[in-house]
Amino acid sequence: SVLPALRQSLLTWYRQAGRELPWRSQQDPYAIWVSEIMLQQTQVKTVIPYYHRWLQQFPTIATLAIADQQQVLKVWQGLGYYARARNLHRAAQVIMQQHQGQFPDQLPAILALPGIGRSTAGGILSAAFHQAWPILDGNVQRVLARLVALPCPPRQALNALWQLSAQLLDAQHPRDFNQALMDLGATVCTPQQPTCQNCPWQPHCQAYDQGMQSSLPMREPT
Ligand code: ADE
Repeated sequence: SVLPALRQSLLTWYRQAGRELPWRSQQDPYAIWVSEIMLQQTQVKTVIPYYHRWLQQFPTIATLAIADQQQVLKVWQGLGYYARARNLHRAAQVIMQQHQGQFPDQLPAILALPGIGRSTAGGILSAAFHQAWPILDGNVQRVLARLVALPCPPRQALNALWQLSAQLLDAQHPRDFNQALMDLGATVCTPQQPTCQNCPWQPHCQAYDQGMQSSLPMREPT
């Protein structure tokens, strides 16, 4: 099987070329959750100052839960998609009421919080609790679609892509593996002009093998 080689080469690449990002030195599940929500629709370099200001204003789930909505929206001002801020605020209140102020460490409880889907839940569980749950955000969909030269738009193959992300995941190193997959998509396996010569998966990539890296993933029919 090629799975161990894929895991090993990605982890080795990440330890040498991965980005140092503020939330990666964090153990606090709350801080990791905040970062994952901000990163859902916003680029890393935009998120970083907001992430620091947010944690300064609301250092704990309890401080966020008792803040008023105007104060919360003011700290979010400029990040866009304001439903994310309202969901963080509401979820903090749910965590106070239902989880004694501790961010939950079980998938069903995390998925029940407003604003958290399956991929964000996997990102939080792997980064904060070292649990082996897969992720599948837009960047990871592109990386995996290229790896297997997916012959359809990713949205038409989400079940297969979730299975692939789960199969690939290194259960011994779920945190680093998932972070590595996100970095690969953000810095090497980019939408335009991917730099395949820097890619740890180039020897295994079906898109590269077929010279298709620039035309995959297939576009959604419009
Ligand atoms: N995008 C979503 N989550 C991320 C993370 N933890 N690091 C970098 N980019 C991300």
